[in-house]
Amino acid sequence: MASDKASSRISGYYKKTVEERVSIAAEMADLTSDEVELLRSGGGLGLEAADRMIENVVGTIEYPLGVAVNFRINGRDRLVPMAIEEPSVVAAASNMARLMREGDGIKASCTDPVMIGQIQVLDVPDMDGAKKALKEAKESLLDLANQQDPVLVRFGGGARDLQIRVIETEAGEMLVLHLLVDCRDAMGANAVNTMCEVLAPSVEKITGGRVLLRIISNLADHRLARAEAVVKKDDIGGEKIVDDIVAAWAFADADPYRAATHNKGIMNGVIAVALATAQDHRALESGAHAYAARSGHYRSLSRWSKNEDGDLVGVLEMPMAVGIVGGATRTHPVARLALKIMGASKAIDLAGVMAAVGLAQNLGALRALVQEGIQHGHMRLHARNLVVMAGADGNLIDRAVEALVESGEIRFDKAQEIVRRLKG
Ligand code: MEV
Repeated sequence: MASDKASSRISGYYKKTVEERVSIAAEMADLTSDEVELLRSGGGLGLEAADRMIENVVGTIEYPLGVAVNFRINGRDRLVPMAIEEPSVVAAASNMARLMREGDGIKASCTDPVMIGQIQVLDVPDMDGAKKALKEAKESLLDLANQQDPVLVRFGGGARDLQIRVIETEAGEMLVLHLLVDCRDAMGANAVNTMCEVLAPSVEKITGGRVLLRIISNLADHRLARAEAVVKKDDIGGEKIVDDIVAAWAFADADPYRAATHNKGIMNGVIAVALATAQDHRALESGAHAYAARSGHYRSLSRWSKNEDGDLVGVLEMPMAVGIVGGATRTHPVARLALKIMGASKAIDLAGVMAAVGLAQNLGALRALVQEGIQHGHMRLHARNLVVMAGADGNLIDRAVEALVESGEIRFDKAQEIVRRLKG
């Protein structure tokens, strides 16, 4: 974003036209006229770039790109681009971010961006001997790994450590060597996989075993993002709602059937930002769910509690393997633009924003679920689409939505009838 002081607190952003929203985002993020044009064109990638990205290209598919407003994270206001096909998600994130703005807003923090590469070693003749030899060879193995990526090392990243594990499996005992790599601003799959492949022959020599797999782990539990926020009880509807949200969270934390849906709500936010910025969202999904099951029991990724003032406290901690250099983040013009709108200049910046959005999204779902239920908001949005399709514009839209929701018959013919009547 152009200025760290620009406020993301924009009331009624959703009521503005697409043109007006683009202008506001353009001003806040200091977009060039080409960038504004890119947003207005509604396209972005183009067939040529798509054809370079994957195989057998026959077209591209578009998603709506929205901007969530009201986010203040670590004292800084941010607009948050989100790409998603599901209605209500961007609105819920913006609404909950408004309740979380108090003071410095949402507090976000990240560990160092360390990914794990796994080297699977079979047929090790002497496990204790192999473990000892690997420990002795640690520095030379790390050096060899770092020779593969001098650029990463120059930017302060690179192979940091080795961890040795022995696991029992259906196919017998195996040694698994973990290579820990600080990936800085890259997601890191390429760097980590290359390093693991290069180390394999040395690992075979040192252990006397046979290396099979050499691949990154998506359970990125050394690369965590954390977001934390307090919502005043009066802003969320009183202490009873706070208690109900805590009880709804406890349900998810105790029951995998509920946890899967609860965490899906978190991922609505996380993945929408991931799509807008062209991240490897499958890696994020698998990392999140594996992390949620790390205790041996699939649980909630978030935690909600009540503090001594009766206010609601939320914390979300999850793996966040994201990058802002390399891959589609660089080659997709809209993804680059999304990063600019968000003002993310480091991968850990982006990771913190994604955790903040996940937390806000989770609260949006829980708040709706403990009160009016989830369909109410969906139906309002649906009603809004219907009245606009039926010809409502300007001030008439809100009045027509009210009347349509009130009627309890949220259908296009009813919307037409109401719009006709209100137009008069
Ligand atoms: C729908 O996309 C997400 C929710 O089901 C999440 C939840 O139940 O917490 C509303």
